[in-house]
Amino acid sequence: MTMSDFKYLFSPLKIGSMEIPNRIMMSPHGVTGLKPGSDEQLAYFEARAKGGAGFVGIAGCAVHTMHVYQGLFMTSRDPANIPKIKRLVDVIHKYGGKAFIHGPWMNGAPDMPQTSKVVPATLWGDNQSREMSIDEIKQLVLDHAISAANMREAGADGMEFPIGGGAGLQYFVSPLYNKRSDEYGGDLDNRIRIILEIAAEIKKMAGRDFNIGFKVNPDESLLGGPDLETGIEICRRLAASGDVDWIRIAARGQKPQMTHFHYPPSYMPQGTNNYASAAVREVVDNIPIIGGGRMTTAEFMEQSIAEGQCDAVFAARAFIVDPEWPNKAKRGETEEIRHCIGDVEGCFLRSCFGMPVGCTYNVEIGHEGQTLAPAEKKKKVAIIGGGPAGLQAALTAAQRGHDIILVEKEDHLGGHVWLEGQLPGLTDRQALPTWYEHQLRKLANVDIRLETEADADYVLSLGADAVIVATGAEFSPTGISYMQMNAAEGYATEGYVYTPEDVILKGVELGDRVLIFDGIGYVTGPGVAEMLADQGKEVVYVNVDPMIGRSVQLLGQHQVMALRLKDKVEFIPNNAPLAVKDHTVTLKNILTYDLTEIEDIDSVVMVASRPSRDELYHALVGKIDELHIIADAADSHWNSFGTDDATKAGHKVALAL
Ligand SMILES: Cc1cc2nc3c(=O)[nH]c(=O)nc-3n(C[C@H](O)[C@H](O)[C@H](O)COP(=O)(O)OP(=O)(O)OC[C@H]3O[C@@H](n4cnc5c(N)ncnc54)[C@H](O)[C@@H]3O)c2cc1C
Ligand SMILES: Cc1cc2nc3c(=O)[nH]c(=O)nc-3n(C[C@H](O)[C@H](O)[C@H](O)COP(=O)(O)O)c2cc1C
Ligand code: SF4
Repeated sequence: MTMSDFKYLFSPLKIGSMEIPNRIMMSPHGVTGLKPGSDEQLAYFEARAKGGAGFVGIAGCAVHTMHVYQGLFMTSRDPANIPKIKRLVDVIHKYGGKAFIHGPWMNGAPDMPQTSKVVPATLWGDNQSREMSIDEIKQLVLDHAISAANMREAGADGMEFPIGGGAGLQYFVSPLYNKRSDEYGGDLDNRIRIILEIAAEIKKMAGRDFNIGFKVNPDESLLGGPDLETGIEICRRLAASGDVDWIRIAARGQKPQMTHFHYPPSYMPQGTNNYASAAVREVVDNIPIIGGGRMTTAEFMEQSIAEGQCDAVFAARAFIVDPEWPNKAKRGETEEIRHCIGDVEGCFLRSCFGMPVGCTYNVEIGHEGQTLAPAEKKKKVAIIGGGPAGLQAALTAAQRGHDIILVEKEDHLGGHVWLEGQLPGLTDRQALPTWYEHQLRKLANVDIRLETEADADYVLSLGADAVIVATGAEFSPTGISYMQMNAAEGYATEGYVYTPEDVILKGVELGDRVLIFDGIGYVTGPGVAEMLADQGKEVVYVNVDPMIGRSVQLLGQHQVMALRLKDKVEFIPNNAPLAVKDHTVTLKNILTYDLTEIEDIDSVVMVASRPSRDELYHALVGKIDELHIIADAADSHWNSFGTDDATKAGHKVALAL
């Protein structure tokens, strides 16, 4: 598609007193790791404003002091932050965009520390802060208005406040959380009273032309709360107040119960929340409704607006992975766009572990606007392995001016990411090898050799100045896992025990009844189980953990996989295989040590230990002056952050050449 094919996405939109140059909102996202007020943070925003974001959200500027997130975010309530926020607003304006400040009131989530110390009503979760007094509620209304006045002084065009998502005012609006019996609790009028008071007070203090939006979760039915009908009514009342300028729909996303809807992984369809924005838009026609949630392509966004499912779209991860995607889409350069693969690991999962937010295959985060230093001395570089590590190493080294020979034994690039991309729910992963291959094929100084398995002689014959071994890792059929250090007896039985590579890459024929042992608690075991179940196999899925997808549970992906598998497999938790022979698998319960025999098993697939493929490296030691081994070949990851670490390792080694 070129610019002329986009009738809506790149057309201006009036929101309150603003004219937004296009229909694209950069959804607020806290990029922990970029220090508030730093030049790196400024460069992050500049790249995205320059890249074509029309309406840019600045995340996490809470309307109160936050003891928990101190130093990570800037509160809008504290006037000392005005100059820091103004720098960001100014850089957004420089490129013609409009800037809004995301002003959450952080409180209430049942699994989180209470940053505000008080809640509308005491919850029955892990955290049980005391109930707010009426005076404290009045003060909260005022805090919102003072924050808005501050942000107006910073030059912002508006503010948005979340009603949902695990923070903020939802704890008033939702009957699941608000058990008050005074004028701020009970019926809907009372529960939304504070919202309307906040909006009115802001218009009074910051001016009628200061724009206000609310992010609403209009469908709490999966949580056991009100359904979409109530959500629509809330939106209708907000819009009718005359004090609200836009509503953004983020349906169902609620941490920790529904995290997978808040950060929809690749398992979810594009436009996860469109059903809700469309329903709200049918009733609310006096202010714009902004829809989104796993919108990854400009074409899908255009279609959503064209079909009337929303007036504008929001996107966070599309901007994390590629700051320039709007301009690329506008120019019709679809192949240039780095599409989000929906693993949620390089971005949100990192922040869950206190690591800086990045992206699994955008290595530039935190370095925006910087140009790569050209190589001091041009070298011939041989890179063995075309997985994510080898691909990024090749790209960075080639961009620095080195001559690259990239050697890959398979007939495609991508390594294990290619393999992941063959599994149900993970097909979006294919975007990663596709993007790298497109970039590398454009470069005259990159020679890609597919279907070439390199041994030491072959590598030496290339006469390279530097060699990077990025040969990855390979699943072993032993069944060894972190809870079971001995190989299962009989694992080497020919034609009986297989690995994911055997099944996905080599397409081996399995029997009708298959036992899959998942010893890594990741997406691979469930993916293979689902694939085989879909092929009509009877699948017994054994997990060493009490749950599916332990390593991605903070993303809620364990819930997605459990739902996908529930009617397709027999699930046996807390077990590891002791023996696999004579069509019988002996399992040991890792909690009780009880033994169970599972009979009539035709084939076994072990998704467990995954040792590094380091033979080539050892064969080259002492024979090459500059020899590197990186990523899974050096330090194999059994579960999350594997691809993320691989691209970073590839970039790092190429910077040092
Ligand atoms: C199903 C599945 C899902 C996953 N999902 C995720 C995820 O969501 N997020 C995440 O971060 N990680 C994920 N991982 C882990 C991640 O894929 C790996 O950690 C990552 O691919 C490692 O990259 P690498 O480049 O080091 O190795 P690999 O991807 O293994 O690539 C190595 C390449 O080297 C080639 N090669 C090996 N030996 C030779 C030789 N002698 N000559 C030529 N070529 C050779 C191989 O064919 C392969 O293409 C997943 C893994 C699997 C299996
Ligand atoms: C790393 C990261 C940080 C986020 N931080 C915030 C935040 O501080 N406040 C918020 O309301 N939403 C936050 N979000 C959610 C996004 O704004 C957005 O609603 C969500 O990612 C779904 O949109 P997407 O599919 O376009 O990414 C964050 C998302 C990511 C990936
Ligand atoms: S880390 Fe993954 S989910 Fe997050 S923005 Fe990057 S590609 Fe998308």
